[in-house]
Amino acid sequence: MITHQIIDDREEHDADAAQADSAIEVPLHIPVLIDEVLRYLDPKAGDSYLDLTAGYGGHAARVLERTGNPGGTVLVDRDSNAVSELEKRFAGDISNGLSILHDDFAAATQQLIDSGRRFDCILADLGVSSPHLNQATRGFSLAQDGPLDMRMDQEQELTADKVVNGYSEAQLIDILTSYGEEPKARAVARAIIAARPVRSTAELASIVARVWPGHSKVHPATRTFQAIRIAVNDELDQLEKSLPQWINLLTPSGRLAIISFQSLEDRLVKNLLADKAGDRYDSEIQLLTKRPITAESTELVHNPRARSAKLRAAVKK
Ligand SMILES: C[S@@+](CC[C@H](N)C(=O)[O-])C[C@H]1O[C@@H](n2cnc3c(N)ncnc32)[C@H](O)[C@@H]1O
Repeated sequence: MITHQIIDDREEHDADAAQADSAIEVPLHIPVLIDEVLRYLDPKAGDSYLDLTAGYGGHAARVLERTGNPGGTVLVDRDSNAVSELEKRFAGDISNGLSILHDDFAAATQQLIDSGRRFDCILADLGVSSPHLNQATRGFSLAQDGPLDMRMDQEQELTADKVVNGYSEAQLIDILTSYGEEPKARAVARAIIAARPVRSTAELASIVARVWPGHSKVHPATRTFQAIRIAVNDELDQLEKSLPQWINLLTPSGRLAIISFQSLEDRLVKNLLADKAGDRYDSEIQLLTKRPITAESTELVHNPRARSAKLRAAVKK
């Protein structure tokens, strides 16, 4: 029998269930590393704030408490459910000038550059939200059966279904290798193609599990799911294109904080920041974190999702 522990998602569902049992109102998404974000962004009264992945507004609400400047605040998210929740949560601030952009952050960044906006604090808390993982219909979760979707932006054309059932063997090998670091990329790609049409996340997970028989700590389809999700949402290209521009959006002495949840993303953040930092005469930023900041064990007790979070921060010269 094949037994695999689904570490990523299941822990989070357990935590959510435990909180629901206690009849306390559970936030849709608990912001990670909130104290650390506030320490590095250091928002002060009157500061302007750009949140590139505002999600359900957990970080944004805490930053706004400090800045008290809704007119200088812009919240971005590509997910329409998140945007609806942000509109409800910040209704009062919207009437005082807070803006919400329903777009991907690459497009939003370009729009803000073109309009000449600058910000004292910028946050990007990358990746998916808890509702993405908890709602089986979104198709992100390995722990629950759902459609092959995985779109953060529900209006986008490319879905996981189109990748899984439409990509050539070479394309599948390429994304499994580059975005999943899957050692058996060729075998997984062939197994997927042989099983077409693949109709659900559970079906996809079991196809990959058959390529990796035996016991493993993490479900063997974790890398495949990550690869397909990154491809569907163009996650690494969005980041690579936008991060250098975020530095251009900072005011002098403005602070940038970025939270990533997987090693490919963290490596990209580390390299892109290092490229703009240093003691050179033309360096644009100074790093505030030599190594990534991770969650304290106390945070992991109430928010297991924080265990893979890595925060890096920089200040504009
Ligand atoms: C980790 S959650 C952010 C949670 C948020 N900090 C909070 O406290 O509620 C990431 C959010 O970023 C959004 N997102 C991810 N990549 C994006 C992109 N390239 N452009 C715009 N939004 C993106 C997702 O839809 C998701 O809502």
